[in-house]
Amino acid sequence: MSLTDTAPTASAADRIRELGVDLPVSRVVRETADAVSISFAVPDAHVEEFSYRPGQFVTVRVPAGPGDGDRYARSYSLSSAPGLDRELTITVKRTPGGRASGWLVDNAREGMTLRVLAPAGLFTPADLDHDLLLWAAGSGITPVFSIARAALARGAGAVTLVACHRDAEQEIFGDRLAELVRRHPDRFTVITRLSSETGRLTSDAVQDLAAGRPWDEAFVCGPAGFMDTVRAGLRELREKAGAAAGTDAAPVHVEEFTSIEGDPFVLEELATGTAAFEATVALDGATHEVEWPAQATLVDVLLGRGIRVPYSCREGDCGSCMSKLRRGRVEMACTDALEPEDIEDGYILACQARPTEGPLDVEF
Ligand SMILES: Cc1cc2nc3c(=O)[nH]c(=O)nc-3n(C[C@H](O)[C@H](O)[C@H](O)COP(=O)(O)OP(=O)(O)OC[C@H]3O[C@@H](n4cnc5c(N)ncnc54)[C@H](O)[C@@H]3O)c2cc1C
Ligand code: FES
Repeated sequence: MSLTDTAPTASAADRIRELGVDLPVSRVVRETADAVSISFAVPDAHVEEFSYRPGQFVTVRVPAGPGDGDRYARSYSLSSAPGLDRELTITVKRTPGGRASGWLVDNAREGMTLRVLAPAGLFTPADLDHDLLLWAAGSGITPVFSIARAALARGAGAVTLVACHRDAEQEIFGDRLAELVRRHPDRFTVITRLSSETGRLTSDAVQDLAAGRPWDEAFVCGPAGFMDTVRAGLRELREKAGAAAGTDAAPVHVEEFTSIEGDPFVLEELATGTAAFEATVALDGATHEVEWPAQATLVDVLLGRGIRVPYSCREGDCGSCMSKLRRGRVEMACTDALEPEDIEDGYILACQARPTEGPLDVEF
């Protein structure tokens, strides 16, 4: 274990830094009585920072009241598609009793400015040429709409979307999906299910809908019960099909819509003279040699040095900061975004990882 002392830093007040960029709202479109799409114009200086992959999300600071305690950080998937839309667009549906979503639905206006963290997230196809099987319920349509548009415009595979809504009034993007089917009749299939008519989705229905359809990757987004049902249905279908169907290795990605409780917009840099471990961090094709204090998370260390690291919630939930520990040891307060196999394979959440043994070697 090797420990060195970090260089002295500034006073307590100077150590608080605000993260994110103020983006002007360029358009607000009402999608349904309870959902709006909010578009942002990204200034030229931030275009690279705000580049994204289909299915990723941004985190918005929602000023839902007069006091500091009424500011909430909330993640929203991008419904726009990279390469197809100039603006960055999120689609927000009101959560009954929610603190921030209703404020956005009622108050977002063209000309206002909202503070936004750069896009992040792992809910994105490995290859746009893959055959994709997309499942969405309610506002879960947002990331899969972006994925479907990007794949149809830039990929070559078949895209099947099962879109579930409570009733026709709640249907988001219905017209735009119908237009996409008209433009790509051989590649795009949309199956719309209204639970007011068909009841809730069951594992048997999932199997009927998916049977015989080609897919290299599946994407599922909606309430927890819906995602469990789709996963169970696809698992049963695979078990019945056996190895012959060739789908046993195809990944099923899920995106869980939860609310952030902390404030990922604030970064407090560490006080002076803290003992630190030596670490080598490989990120975006560059290698950074950093001093990693024992009390600090790796995301905070990198942000403090102005290094563009993938992150969003900074509370172990979203998985954006997942990286591989190749040498050294860390401890993590929360590992919610990791599967047990990920931990066995040496993956860590850089927003949770604090070093316990060095030197360390981490690869994003
Ligand atoms: C990666 C990601 C992408 C997302 N994408 C989208 C998207 O595209 N569109 C979208 O609409 N949403 C999306 N979300 C969800 C979004 O971030 C918010 O969680 C959602 O808008 C609800 O926020 P809220 O502040 O309105 O609700 P919250 O105030 O967080 O409340 C959520 C629920 O908890 C209940 N609740 C609130 N306070 C309490 C309390 N003190 N005790 C008990 N219960 C309470 C509320 O009644 C409500 O049912 C996404 C989330 C993630 C993580
Ligand atoms: S930033 Fe969300 S899990 Fe680390």
